[in-house]
Amino acid sequence: MCSSTEDLQREIRELCEAKHAKLFAHYYVPDEVQDIADEIGDSFFLARRARETDAEIIVLCGVQFMGESAKILNPEKKVLIPALNADCPMAHMCTVERIAEVRDEHPGVAVVCYVNSTAELKAHSDVCVTSANALKIVSKLPNEEIYFIPDQNLAHYIADQLPEKKFIFNDGFCHVHHSITKDQMAQAKAAKPNALVCVHPECKPEVVAMADYVGSTSGIINFVDGSDAEEFIIATEMGVMHSLRTAHPDKKFYTAGNMQLCPNMKKVSLEKVRDALLKEDTEIHVDVDLMKEAYEPMMKMLELAK
Ligand code: 13P
Ligand code: SF4
Repeated sequence: MCSSTEDLQREIRELCEAKHAKLFAHYYVPDEVQDIADEIGDSFFLARRARETDAEIIVLCGVQFMGESAKILNPEKKVLIPALNADCPMAHMCTVERIAEVRDEHPGVAVVCYVNSTAELKAHSDVCVTSANALKIVSKLPNEEIYFIPDQNLAHYIADQLPEKKFIFNDGFCHVHHSITKDQMAQAKAAKPNALVCVHPECKPEVVAMADYVGSTSGIINFVDGSDAEEFIIATEMGVMHSLRTAHPDKKFYTAGNMQLCPNMKKVSLEKVRDALLKEDTEIHVDVDLMKEAYEPMMKMLELAK
């Protein structure tokens, strides 16, 4: 059956009502999914709201690590992700063996784990962070040495602002943000000299250095909301353009380089959201012991981010 977008959206909302389910969506999923979400936000907002929700079923419209984070924070709830094969490559760009090695070599180190990581990596870490709270949380840690996994670029962004800390870097990266080059940004700026530049900290340091504002997806949206400027160059995944253009039809938004699209976030279609609700067969399962171990660093994040 070929349903129209509106029919599918209506069917999904009816299923949510009937099943006491809530849709949590990240800004990078397709626009038509964002439009019917109960909660839309960056990774930190989604994790925090997942902890607070009274829904019986959470449908996490995002990639695997987001579903796992919601499950770790709500072990008793059913968490579905519409596309089980929507995985973030960066989430796997470290190993528990490497964490153990670093702990052996640096006994006082704090292992700080970006939430864009597997449950296993979280379970072997001291605290989790997102791009929205990493600076605040790392600055509150008593440890001098910080092993920041898996993202090298977010690590450098935080390290540059905390010279009193000694960072050990990992070599993970997000291919969507890491692909934006300094030359592409220079060209975008030359083409639109009046535009303010908003950059996600998963971008390379030389791109971050060209920004007027650096922050998470929600941070970028809030920055635009509070700015009188009329033009912006947005260096993150293109999904944020939907909220930006809806809220600010008179402002102009440009990209740096080619359109940045995360192929995994774009797997979350309306059909898959509908099927997840109908069949409930795309549930996130995390090993019970792993879940208990990962709960502590996730809760520590929520505490320290207050
Ligand atoms: P934030 O949601 O923290 O902005 O992170 C972006 C991201 O890459 C999520 O996959
Ligand atoms: Fe992973 Fe990057 Fe996609 Fe986010 S945008 S899910 S970090 S690949």
